[in-house]
Amino acid sequence: MAKQNMPAAKTKPAKAASAKANSGKATAVKADAAKAAAKPETVTFIDNRTGKRFDYPIIKGTVGPDVVDIRKFYGDTGMFTYDPGYGSTGSCSSSITYIDGDVGILEYRGYPIEQLAEHSHFLEVAYLLLSGELPTAKELREFEDSITHHTMLQEQIHFFFRGFRRDSHPMALMVAAVGSLAAFYHDYLDFHDPKDRMIASHRLISKIPTIAAWAYKYSQGQPFMYPRNDLDYAGNFLHMTFATPCETYKVNPVLARALDRLFILHADHEQNASTSTVRLAGSSGANPFACISAGIASLWGPAHGGANEAVLDMLTQIGDRNRIPEFIKRAKDKNDPFRLMGFGHRVYKNYDPRAKIIQRSCHDVLDELGIRKEPLLDLAMELERIALEDDYFVEHKLYPNVDFYSGIIYKAMGFPNSMFTAMFAIARTVGWIAQWAEMMVDSESRIGRPRQRFIGATRRNYVPISRRKAK
Ligand code: ACO
Repeated sequence: MAKQNMPAAKTKPAKAASAKANSGKATAVKADAAKAAAKPETVTFIDNRTGKRFDYPIIKGTVGPDVVDIRKFYGDTGMFTYDPGYGSTGSCSSSITYIDGDVGILEYRGYPIEQLAEHSHFLEVAYLLLSGELPTAKELREFEDSITHHTMLQEQIHFFFRGFRRDSHPMALMVAAVGSLAAFYHDYLDFHDPKDRMIASHRLISKIPTIAAWAYKYSQGQPFMYPRNDLDYAGNFLHMTFATPCETYKVNPVLARALDRLFILHADHEQNASTSTVRLAGSSGANPFACISAGIASLWGPAHGGANEAVLDMLTQIGDRNRIPEFIKRAKDKNDPFRLMGFGHRVYKNYDPRAKIIQRSCHDVLDELGIRKEPLLDLAMELERIALEDDYFVEHKLYPNVDFYSGIIYKAMGFPNSMFTAMFAIARTVGWIAQWAEMMVDSESRIGRPRQRFIGATRRNYVPISRRKAK
């Protein structure tokens, strides 16, 4: 959907003669505009079985498609709307993130993602997402100080980790450890109090990198590394992941900057599956740590944040550029469950703006690490080239999404595939908690409770086991 409510394009002053000729037209246009203005801002549903009409108001956002308010639809008509996957359903009003998927626009609080990725850094973006405005120097200093000084985990959490198998997937540990924070931090839980909401938000943003790094350390059989307050957010995560107590670890600033930029790109993405999960869980008044744990579980799936891991698995499986046509053919075959991972998006029907930035970042990281040739990057670029020329991908508007190139960067930095989605979760925690906090103060927010079209058996009588027939 093209951006709406944009200021009309400015036109050059018309010449006098044409102005006169146009004056009649202008009067007609004004009359049409007046007529249009008089039209009711409603949509009418007609039940063709009875001829009954039902009017629903059209409500507007500051930008983006208009919205039909159908909250009274069931009460009026006795029918539900049916929209599996919620492709046409808005579940809330939000002022955090705006996406125009048709043209590939992503904005956090009105700021284009390209500008934030270029000029900002992750904690400043986190402040922006949480508060709505860019911070002053003092506000940023205080926020960074608060996040930096809450990165340690309650010491007992060591033992919680130790209950897991060493070969557990890091996302399994993340789901569990983040949920467990509800047990470790059960003070300040009046979520109607802005201070308590702020404390829960800061705790989550500061502790999530420690949890992810420790999930990695545990899988490697290495000692957990404590956070370092002299490092920035991304640098500290690299330290907790790759340092050992045996030697000094020096954070590479180019890699830290690339990681910080990846965190910015992944920080929020409006009402996607995991964010909607967080909102749905939170709509019952549940503990925010438990809600974020639910979000992490939803993110894990390969159709969502798990795609970055799946892309690398797929590229490894393809192995050679000569085999690309075979996999493209499989992706197009409706009888084959194989899909091109890292391609396609529910909202973007154009190039995902984040994928463009990540592709550039990929080259920076490989250059910095002196990797002249990365076969998986060559393969990915060739796969993209072939797919974007293929009629099926063109017709279905399938472009690379945020996850297509991110795994290649993470791999070059030394992360195993299983950590990719965990790193997505670090960044998205900011978006999840900002969305949760927004919902908590939204007077229109109600417990989330979709309805269903029932297609099971109709009412029947219980049959005693002795009279049941074998199938
Ligand atoms: N490869 C091949 N065909 C595809 C792909 C793909 N990656 N994605 C969509 N299609 C096709 C579908 O088969 C369908 O075709 P049809 O209309 O002829 O039946 C059409 O495109 C529309 O696809 P849907 O599945 O209906 O689109 P939906 O919006 O439900 O799904 C999704 C979006 C899940 C992202 C999908 O494109 C996909 O599975 N992509 C691969 C996984 C992936 O990269 N996920 C990460 C998304 S980004 C993120 O969440 C962070």
